[in-house]
Amino acid sequence: MGRYKLGVLVSGRGTNLQAIIDAVQRGDLPVEIAIVISNHAGVLALARAEAAGIPTAVVERSGFSSRAEQQRAIRDILQQRSVDLVVLAGFDRVVGPELLASFPNRIINIHPSLLPAFGGGLHAQADALAYGAKVSGCTVHFVTDQVDGGPIIVQRAVPVLDDDTVESLSERILKQEHQALVEAIRLLAEGRLRIEGRRVITAPPMQRHEA
Ligand code: GRF
Repeated sequence: MGRYKLGVLVSGRGTNLQAIIDAVQRGDLPVEIAIVISNHAGVLALARAEAAGIPTAVVERSGFSSRAEQQRAIRDILQQRSVDLVVLAGFDRVVGPELLASFPNRIINIHPSLLPAFGGGLHAQADALAYGAKVSGCTVHFVTDQVDGGPIIVQRAVPVLDDDTVESLSERILKQEHQALVEAIRLLAEGRLRIEGRRVITAPPMQRHEA
């Protein structure tokens, strides 16, 4: 049996992608990153993938007559690469039915808040700070047709400090994102997750039996 294959969708600087690459290179994550796809050319995430020898593709909205056409093109690449799991790692667009239907319960996203708080936007850290939340964090969840509303796989909390800025809070959350995303991918690659309604149940790791 081949390795569990990831397709990673990115749009920007790619620190979450880098966390996955680092974990794979350390031998901490039993997966192969089969393809990194960006919807923007020239972003740092693509350079990170290339530096690690991972195939990349750029599928920009401007090359297609509709968002649906663009997402069908992304889906075709993911299918050609026989991807088991699609990871949205800082992908800045909503995933439409073209992709969702082809990868049911096989698309995950990382969001920089404790969902369902501060979902649905691109400024979750600023929103948590402005709201006066005392705790925030990050959430890795399955992607469904409800934006930021799919079943939750992993969450990690951080305090919001009195002297926080959007930058300092984002940085604290980002450190946890990198760990949470790797943890969620590991659980999926090891086949340890089961979805029951809205709940994601985690099975314990396989016991090794010494002869
Ligand atoms: C992260 O904060 C992630 O939660 C959000 O977009 C940001 C991407 O950062 N969806 P990076 O590109 O992985 O550095």
